[in-house]
Amino acid sequence: MQNSTKKRTMSSAGTLMYLLKGSLLLFIISILASAAFTFFSTLIPQVVSFAINYVIGENEPAESFSWLVSLFGGLNFLKENMWLLAAGIASLAIFAAISAYLRMYINTRATQSFMRRMRNTLFSHVLRLPLSWHAEHRTGDIIQRCTSDADTICNFVSLQLINLFRIVILIIFSLTFMFIMNVKLALIAAVFVPLFIIGGYLFHRYARRHFKKCDEEEGVLSTLAQENFTGVRVVRAFGREKYERDKFEKQNVYYTGLWLKILNKMAVYWTVNNFIAAAQGMLMVVVGAVFCVKGQLSAGEFVAFITYNAMLMGPVRELGRIISNMSKAGVSLGRIAEILNAQEEDYGESKALSGDIELKDVSFSYEEGKPVLKDVSVKVPQGTTLGIIGASGSGKSTLVQLLVKLMPLSGGDILIGGQSFKDISLSTLRENIGLVLQESYVYTRTVGENIAMASNGATQEDIEDAARCACVDDNIKAFANGYDTVVGERGVTLSGGQKQRVAIARTLMRKTPYLIFDDSLSAVDSETDFSIRRNLRERNAGATVIIISHRITTVMHADNIIVLDGGKITESGTHAELLNAGGLYRKIYDVQMSLPDELKEEVQRG
Ligand SMILES: Nc1ncnc2c1ncn2[C@@H]1O[C@H](COP(=O)(O)OP(=O)(O)OP(=O)(O)O)[C@@H](O)[C@H]1O
Ligand SMILES: [Mg+2]
Repeated sequence: MQNSTKKRTMSSAGTLMYLLKGSLLLFIISILASAAFTFFSTLIPQVVSFAINYVIGENEPAESFSWLVSLFGGLNFLKENMWLLAAGIASLAIFAAISAYLRMYINTRATQSFMRRMRNTLFSHVLRLPLSWHAEHRTGDIIQRCTSDADTICNFVSLQLINLFRIVILIIFSLTFMFIMNVKLALIAAVFVPLFIIGGYLFHRYARRHFKKCDEEEGVLSTLAQENFTGVRVVRAFGREKYERDKFEKQNVYYTGLWLKILNKMAVYWTVNNFIAAAQGMLMVVVGAVFCVKGQLSAGEFVAFITYNAMLMGPVRELGRIISNMSKAGVSLGRIAEILNAQEEDYGESKALSGDIELKDVSFSYEEGKPVLKDVSVKVPQGTTLGIIGASGSGKSTLVQLLVKLMPLSGGDILIGGQSFKDISLSTLRENIGLVLQESYVYTRTVGENIAMASNGATQEDIEDAARCACVDDNIKAFANGYDTVVGERGVTLSGGQKQRVAIARTLMRKTPYLIFDDSLSAVDSETDFSIRRNLRERNAGATVIIISHRITTVMHADNIIVLDGGKITESGTHAELLNAGGLYRKIYDVQMSLPDELKEEVQRG
């Protein structure tokens, strides 16, 4: 197996700290700026209260206040220069505004840096995860974790967590001022704080479960749309438009119904919540007014109380939602931690490779107890060609994937130039072995870029040389934009055979000493198949080649041919030897050679 080293086992909190590297300080500054904003904002009602009580009104300030009053030139001076109070309020408002600006500015920078780090970390990590991990996870799920889970975490950290701190600071400051002014009235406000928080938490916890259901159903809806758009040709060809439209409509109605249900519940919740908030406000006014009349509260304090209460209740009603969202962010964080904790492959250092390839009792199974390859032993001397032929499902592609360590061997060993597979790094293998996979994949880029993508510093000449060898140069030049033609979504501007040849050219660009073609000529006609093999012999003379095919004519010139049947080598030898042996190879040969030309072509294509 690959000698992997980068083992990580991070908890959700550990993952968050890991992702916050580089942006944590900015977030802390943002929280501090938020605290400053709240502090300055909560001071304003104090100045207003002071003005009403002592400057406009006739009350005498308490002893403890006198130092502050004398700092501003005494009460009489303030009464004559009321603008000083207005300037005080304006200054506090300006400080609050500057703090708010700083909070937003720094928060935006922190968020961008956090998001960038999260995206980069996830993307490069997922690319380095072994194929077995990819086989266990659906692409849609991986993409969802890297996009919507990442967004959830980012939103939570940049908006909700900062808000959480802001609201907690606001509660502390406001309630402290309120309790200093009047304990009884402050208690009325304080009692409602946990009520709103718990009520909000419970409702939003319920709503979140419902939103999750909505998300899942939206996923079903988009999968339906995506599958139909991707397979639009199949839908058209089978005349299934109405069936698919009805299926979509049914899901759409169900999904819309779910939304209506939750929106209705939200409307009821907010109406009740608004009513309670209004009743609480009214209670404060009435009780506050009674205290004023009884002389237990000054007019200034009354105004300050009402202002604090108004400042407080909105954010407090938000708090329940934020707390309930914490668990949602926690789930997303867990899902991302799962990806980051998956072990990356260790690529190791790349070295040159040469010598024979020798498979010794190689066995492999995808699932325990169901071997796909059984004791496969074969030697491919350096510079020779091995042909592999076998029925569909006999294990040919599995074998080549083992050769580039896309999957670990279950048993046996592979030696290259006498070196055991265990001692050959992933980089060494993949730099030295050029593999054309059975399913050719082209990116939505230009044809030229598609060919050059596996090699660094390729010139146009190199690209054209590889394309000529793969017999696709003429096709590409016939396109209006030649090598600059952008290959459409899923390669629609290229035919199946052209795609295969672009994939071959891509592999040939790297001039590797070992070449493996996994049924890579199945979609090209026999004549082109022949030309490509002839070009290869000339261009890559000396390379060790493994060619897999269903077509006898493709492998018949190989130095050695093996027949795979049910994961075992049942026959091996040269073309002539295998024909004489009269086994499966002979049978395939007879079938493929005895058919009329058109039918032969059809069968040979697989
Ligand atoms: N990812 C996988 N998980 C489980 N089983 C798999 C997987 N890939 C292939 N198999 C099974 O392993 C066996 C060999 O598959 P493989 O792709 O190697 O066959 P093949 O000889 O290349 O066939 P073909 O000629 O059709 O390309 C098949 O029975 C297949 O069902
Ligand atoms: Mg295959």
